Amino acid sequence: MFKTIEWKNNNVVMIDQRLLPNEEVYRTYKDFPGVAEAIRKMVVRGAPAIGVAAAMGIALGASGIKAKGRKEFAGKFERICKLMAATRPTAVNLFWAIKRMKGVVKGNPKLAPDELKEKLVQEAKKIHVEDIEINKQMGKFGSRLIKNRATVLTHCNAGALATAGYGTALGVIRAAIEDGKKVKVFADETRPFLQGSRLTAWELMKDGIDTTLITDNMAGYMMKKELIDLVIVGADRIAANGDVANKIGTYSVAVLAREHKIPFYVAAPISTIDLSIKHGDKIPIEERDRKEVTHIKNIPIAPDRIKVKNPAFDVTPHKLVTAIVTERGIARKPFEKSLKKLAVSPPVINNEK
Ligand code: MRU
Repeated sequence: MFKTIEWKNNNVVMIDQRLLPNEEVYRTYKDFPGVAEAIRKMVVRGAPAIGVAAAMGIALGASGIKAKGRKEFAGKFERICKLMAATRPTAVNLFWAIKRMKGVVKGNPKLAPDELKEKLVQEAKKIHVEDIEINKQMGKFGSRLIKNRATVLTHCNAGALATAGYGTALGVIRAAIEDGKKVKVFADETRPFLQGSRLTAWELMKDGIDTTLITDNMAGYMMKKELIDLVIVGADRIAANGDVANKIGTYSVAVLAREHKIPFYVAAPISTIDLSIKHGDKIPIEERDRKEVTHIKNIPIAPDRIKVKNPAFDVTPHKLVTAIVTERGIARKPFEKSLKKLAVSPPVINNEK
């Protein structure tokens, strides 16, 4: 099985997701700027995986700090966190991970730089391990939403590649299959970066999961033909009212699902919920390079100098969301109440079904 991201011999190793599915190349990052650049360039992507990469990148950066005392260390550490925060704007897991790493420094006021460095590495490793556990727990809850012989549509990649492992939306599908259910997946290709065709199709096929690839504009047709029983996607940031920012095109799928009376589920860890943002309108939406739209693998597919828009995410209004699966349970409407309740509730250690 592939590893999305790993802390190995004091380096960060990541599978280069830009090259999948054609090449399985692992890159080793020895310093913090390398990891920041890898996040920016989407060597690693997907909200939880970005969070893990940020934490490991910060741990790498902190390990390399040369400082006489704690004050100098803290100043340099802050700068590393600031640079990391500027890599990608939408997935809140990035900022959540940075906050957690900052908490290590703040929470240990007596420790000397060398001891702090060690603690920061431990924290990054912990975030990595926890992410897999969280996804498994999410899967246990989410599996209940999937009936035997269901056909599930997903958009983008919310799988092992978008997390430390197992996945959020794909984790729920994996859990349903582990529970003995027969599940078929339809994967939207997800223009322009093709996370669906390159990544979701690749990792589901590796697991032997029955997967059918469609282009994004085929989803409505499939729903009308009654070939889809439910939709499940991941999220990059969920506002307090349940509005969901996720890969561009998710909103269109949610509208289609409503029209065809198909449940639309979101699976995301508590770290993706941003209670400080009331409505989805306030979620910053990343605008990416025009070349992602005008080219495929460096081959132009549009006229030179054509005007281009390339928002990487959209916001699905909460009214279109049937339920949100988290590692602490399933949130239903009104989301203001249910999300807040889950966010403050203690983690579920062992969920007996
Ligand atoms: O631009 P990306 O590939 O980082 O966007 C990823 C998504 O939108 C995912 O659906 C989301 O992060 C959920 S991943 C568990």
